[in-house]
Amino acid sequence: MRAVAILTAAGSGTRLGHALPKALVPLAGIPLVVRAAHALTSSGIVRRIVVTAPPEALDDVVAALGAAPGAVPGLEVVPGGTTRQASVAAALARLADEPDDAVVLVHDAARPLVPVRVVRRVAGTVAMGRDAVVPALPVADTIKQVGPDGAVVRTLERPALRAVQTPQGFTLGALRSAHAAASHRADDEALAATDDAGLVEAAGGQVWVVEGHEDAMKITTPRDLVVATALVSALVG
Ligand code: CTP
Ligand code: MG
Repeated sequence: MRAVAILTAAGSGTRLGHALPKALVPLAGIPLVVRAAHALTSSGIVRRIVVTAPPEALDDVVAALGAAPGAVPGLEVVPGGTTRQASVAAALARLADEPDDAVVLVHDAARPLVPVRVVRRVAGTVAMGRDAVVPALPVADTIKQVGPDGAVVRTLERPALRAVQTPQGFTLGALRSAHAAASHRADDEALAATDDAGLVEAAGGQVWVVEGHEDAMKITTPRDLVVATALVSALVG
């Protein structure tokens, strides 16, 4: 089973607050986007990767990926959009020559340490006939829905909750349809989409969950970078 991948790396990393765009921030010496690309290629099933880069840092992302040892075959870098969703749409346009039944993984450069078995599990489950598959973990915290005034609306039923990670896997046709449907909806709805599976749900499609992994943690804040740095030394040590 072979897959194509979209690696989203066009964000600025506002919450991380680093001088560099987040994808170029080094984690134990290696930029996040380079680590994430290698996580995908190390799976042995990804034959092509389209990376979305901040337009002003396009050349730097190309250079970082090109300089990496064992540079990725079939790697292309495209300018991203102003939202994550627009960035994925730009990458999808680049994949126009791929068939609808191709397996596509959408992965965030912000999750550089995803284990290869999660990548394979997601892609393998799509290949077995699921149109949309996300890796996820149970949540440890109690989650409450809160109103704009700070009042708790309800406590959600924790055993039913999952924290969703990437890579998310799709048949290319399902992802194309979901993005096409989203582009026809109101802007405020489109802006609310923080993942691609959410677009499939909004379009009436079924999304399936497989087991994720704690190492696929998302780097959002400076604290996350500290935790990930410790993880890297624990993983190699
Ligand atoms: N992303 C993207 N294009 C955008 C915004 C985000 O490709 N216009 C990517 C990011 O590069 C990241 C992933 O989507 O890999 C998840 O986004 P997030 O973690 O929110 O990263 P940033 O948007 O860069 O961070 P922040 O929201 O703190 O600015
Ligand atoms: Mg963001």
